[in-house]
Amino acid sequence: MQKENIMDYDTVALDEEKNELVIIDQTKLPGKIEIIRLKEAKEIWDAIYLLKVRGAPAIGVAAAYGIYILAAESSADTYEAFYEEFKKKKEYLNSSRPTAVNLSWALNRMEQVVLDKKELPVAEILACLKEEAKEIQAEDIRVCKAIGEYGLSLVKPGDGILTHCNAGQLATSKYGTATAPIYLGEERGYHFRVFADETRPLLQGARLTAFELQSSGVDVTLICDNMSSSVMQKGWVNAVFVGCDRVAANGDTANKIGTSVVAAVADHYKVPVYICAPTSTIDMDTKTGADIKIEERPAEEVTEMWYKERMAPEGVKVYNPAFDVTDHELIAGIVTEYGVARAPYETSLKEIFKKKEED
Ligand code: MRU
Repeated sequence: MQKENIMDYDTVALDEEKNELVIIDQTKLPGKIEIIRLKEAKEIWDAIYLLKVRGAPAIGVAAAYGIYILAAESSADTYEAFYEEFKKKKEYLNSSRPTAVNLSWALNRMEQVVLDKKELPVAEILACLKEEAKEIQAEDIRVCKAIGEYGLSLVKPGDGILTHCNAGQLATSKYGTATAPIYLGEERGYHFRVFADETRPLLQGARLTAFELQSSGVDVTLICDNMSSSVMQKGWVNAVFVGCDRVAANGDTANKIGTSVVAAVADHYKVPVYICAPTSTIDMDTKTGADIKIEERPAEEVTEMWYKERMAPEGVKVYNPAFDVTDHELIAGIVTEYGVARAPYETSLKEIFKKKEED
């Protein structure tokens, strides 16, 4: 049944009876709330690649349910055959997008279950896989809420907050990461004034962030990407909160293309930039931002805009990186579910993981 508010829908869900992945097709938002059901490997791969489901944590949850759904279709009758098939499907899903580390993080967690439960019959391994995928999603909700609490401690009622891309509920299972402090603050009467960058070329800020914040009653103003300097110059922004796709061990952070521009502008105006990062997005095996693989996407995303109206000359050379890296020196803090890491990030991020291990 059609619900009234986008916030009442699950970004990602598992239909346990039909063994299907159920997502909101985010390419149709905000014009149409369309729920789609996926079962085949190619459909799930396409949904991630085409950004029907997007945002690092949501990609991780979709991949976890996706690999479970694909594993459940297996007809293998020995563990070895089952694991061989599993690995192939895992690699396939993992190839859908390269930058958000949550994709491989979630798939590796699912693979670990298969390895740990190798003594069990395949049917029981499947039951464990389903539980693990559900736990990844439940954790995502808890983690986002904790990020919201820590993020909220960095701002005060009435503050102006600027955000880029969509690190909102539509990018996670609930609350979002960069939007979590905003939603929690709203519940507590903080009444933030939020500026949402439209986020060219795929307009996640205009289509998704502005939509979900407005649907939640948050005071949100949509701005073009080239307006962040103007609003900061006027003193309207007290803090920048953004999400991320991968944080390197030194604090360099990959997020949606344009984030590093916002960070450089914010540095100029002495506005603090906070990266909201679940530990699932922090990749201590990646030393610096230079080691992060940046996805490059089709030229048409730039030449045709969202509604497929061509507005650039045919054949023009296009460069279309989907993410960029913000230098750790431009980051005031990395807000995780275990607290706010500050420079030097080499040590503070290790401390965050120590807290996680002790938890
Ligand atoms: O290409 P997208 O829409 O998947 O990019 C999303 C972002 O860059 C988000 O800021 C990031 O994944 C964090 S989502 C909590």
